[in-house]
Amino acid sequence: MKSGLFITFEGVDGSGKSTQLRRAVQYIRQRGHRVVVTREPGGTRTGERVRDILLASKTGKLAPLAELALMYAARAQVLEEVVRPALARGEVVVSDRYNTASFAYQGYGRQLGTPTVRAFDRVICGSTQPDLTIILDIDPERARGRALGDARRGSHLDRIEAASLAFHKRVRAGYLAIARRAPERIKLVCAEQSIDELQNQIRALIEPLLARRNRNSKLETRKS
Ligand code: TYD
Repeated sequence: MKSGLFITFEGVDGSGKSTQLRRAVQYIRQRGHRVVVTREPGGTRTGERVRDILLASKTGKLAPLAELALMYAARAQVLEEVVRPALARGEVVVSDRYNTASFAYQGYGRQLGTPTVRAFDRVICGSTQPDLTIILDIDPERARGRALGDARRGSHLDRIEAASLAFHKRVRAGYLAIARRAPERIKLVCAEQSIDELQNQIRALIEPLLARRNRNSKLETRKS
């Protein structure tokens, strides 16, 4: 059975993750791989509607468990519609956030704890876990400065971005703890360097996985 490659990008709000993701996707395509790009919460029609509920300020106070359940509802949908079919076709899937965000934001940030998030994860994600997760690490106070800068330029802070600094500090501490527990699969990169330097580091993390895919597909061609 064909099996693709699943890469996810993570980080606190304002870490510059989306810019880096776009450039990484360009790079993977230039290397000749088919890439499907998605994001969470969202990535499907239904998931984007769930995203609206999750991020709209007018949603008001959402119970932490309701927030977690909605994150996983959107995730179940994108897994079914987008991620698993693409992986089964042998393609590369790059997602702007995935389950590590739930462990960091809801597990640590909202203080629901890892076992509660894991219970959802076992049912919804199961064995569909990323081959590589890249976390862009930055001090939330400095990242917040960037987000506020964006807000002044016209995009307003969403419901989760607007949460307290203490919340965002717990999220960051969560990401650091998660990365320490699975260093072979989850990589931390410092987001406070130039866009080009950061992109070079990210490419160096992705490259061995692409090389392995190329070797495997050559072996398969030889066999057939
Ligand atoms: P994102 O799209 O990365 O926000 P932005 O485009 O503003 O960088 O993520 C939306 C928000 O949802 C972000 O604050 C993180 C949060 N989030 C969670 O709290 N849990 C999750 O499981 C996911 C996927 C996202």
